Amino acid sequence: MRVAVLGGHGKTGRAVVGGLAARGTEALPLGRADWPRLTRTVRGCDAAYVIAPNLHPDEPSYVAEALAALSEAGVGRVVYHSVASPYAPAMPHHLGKAASEDLVRRSGLDWTILQPGAYLQNLDLTGPVDVPYSLDARFGFLDLADLGRAAAAVLTQPGHVGATYELASRAASVRELADEAGVPSRRVDDPQVHPWLSAMFAYYDDHGLPVGTRVLDVLLGRS
Ligand SMILES: NC(=O)c1ccc[n+]([C@@H]2O[C@H](COP(=O)([O-])OP(=O)(O)OC[C@H]3O[C@@H](n4cnc5c(N)ncnc54)[C@H](OP(=O)(O)O)[C@@H]3O)[C@@H](O)[C@H]2O)c1
Repeated sequence: MRVAVLGGHGKTGRAVVGGLAARGTEALPLGRADWPRLTRTVRGCDAAYVIAPNLHPDEPSYVAEALAALSEAGVGRVVYHSVASPYAPAMPHHLGKAASEDLVRRSGLDWTILQPGAYLQNLDLTGPVDVPYSLDARFGFLDLADLGRAAAAVLTQPGHVGATYELASRAASVRELADEAGVPSRRVDDPQVHPWLSAMFAYYDDHGLPVGTRVLDVLLGRS
């Protein structure tokens, strides 16, 4: 099996490529330079894992273009990398993923949608942790290695077509993770941040981004 990984050279893409390789599945990581000849490049692949670049200004257009190329190339299986709680109107980039999910579901391809929580690797727990939102906000954090395993599971096992899965490795707050690691944590606001990120941090302050861990356990066969 050969899987094209769109956005495959980024942080997320490398985890997906690694997860596929660990299962002996060939992955073809694709980046910006491949985009102009995407249809030709993905021809012959059995499936695609579609990751939009971080804060893409128009994610639904990016996803629509990817889906059109896959259809034209005869790649009938797609996994779309969304986010937990995509339909959150207060967060514009989450809404872009909600609209993209709709495109995926109506694409005519065999689809699966993964909705990851915030990555554990967003936090560097080897020293003091500064975040621009409440230290006590509740999250379902996803370990990128688990994302790779989950991506490989849904692509190589039967039964995942037409499924949407929220993914988290553990439920915690930033303060809890920092305390466990024995490092200090502080809230430090950054007024220069991208407006979509400041909207996201305000949402985190009020609601966190909770995600249950059970779905990932089941997908990975963990007790
Ligand atoms: N961080 C989190 O906690 C989190 C949680 C849930 C979901 N997500 C989502 O995960 C996704 C990926 O995040 P990431 O940080 O891994 O992304 P990233 O590192 O920014 O991904 C970069 C990849 O996208 C490609 N790319 C960039 N601009 C492009 C363009 N205009 N057209 C085509 N390809 C382009 C890059 O190509 P080159 O190789 O050519 O540079 C590279 O392969 C985002 O959609 C994000 O919202 C993130």
